[in-house]
Amino acid sequence: MKSPLIIANWKSNKTVDEAKKWFEEIASQAVLPRTAQVVLCPSFPLLPVCQDLLTKYRLPWKLGAQTVSSFSEGKHTGEVNAVQLKEYVSYVLIGHSERRMELHETNDMLFEKVKRVREAGLTPIYFVQDGSTTIPEGVDIVAYEPIFAIGTGVADTPEHAEQVARGIKISMHIQTVLYGGSVDDKNVAAFMSCSSLDGIVPGAASLNPKEFAKLIIHA
Ligand code: PGA
Repeated sequence: MKSPLIIANWKSNKTVDEAKKWFEEIASQAVLPRTAQVVLCPSFPLLPVCQDLLTKYRLPWKLGAQTVSSFSEGKHTGEVNAVQLKEYVSYVLIGHSERRMELHETNDMLFEKVKRVREAGLTPIYFVQDGSTTIPEGVDIVAYEPIFAIGTGVADTPEHAEQVARGIKISMHIQTVLYGGSVDDKNVAAFMSCSSLDGIVPGAASLNPKEFAKLIIHA
């Protein structure tokens, strides 16, 4: 049986206190499969806290950043670069549709981010909105997230997600393809039974520790 990669995308949610409570609650779930491959992606200010909390509760999970600067260190006010992130994370999400739309991130910027992340020795997780989104060199993990399914409670069908994932694997030579968009504990098993899908990216369902624990169990 495959062990799915589960990327918890907290987006712009949670304070330090809320993150502490989340860990306390999830660590107290009796049946939490601790060996699941989980990557927790909180906002930047929560990364050091979450790093400490993973150690405190002995959770063998990894951290990921939700974005990264397309610049290297230097005169770029407000930017957080890949070398800085390396102190906390193993993965970086790049090209989420919310950032493409709200912050007008372009393919050129995203390709630059992939380059920076790779140079720092981190693993990019590249988001595509359909099977025709351009994927840059140096990407091994792709997250397929159709826009209609994000935060709407209306997920793609497993059959269609499988078709898109298979297409990406064959045409782009991508090893690992994940599905994201309204994944929850009820539909996760259906996505994970698709042979071309290697994991999932829950957003809303990762915010509640009980719901997230159930999702891990059913994945
Ligand atoms: P959702 O978000 O699970 O809340 O739909 C997923 C994502 O945007 O990564």
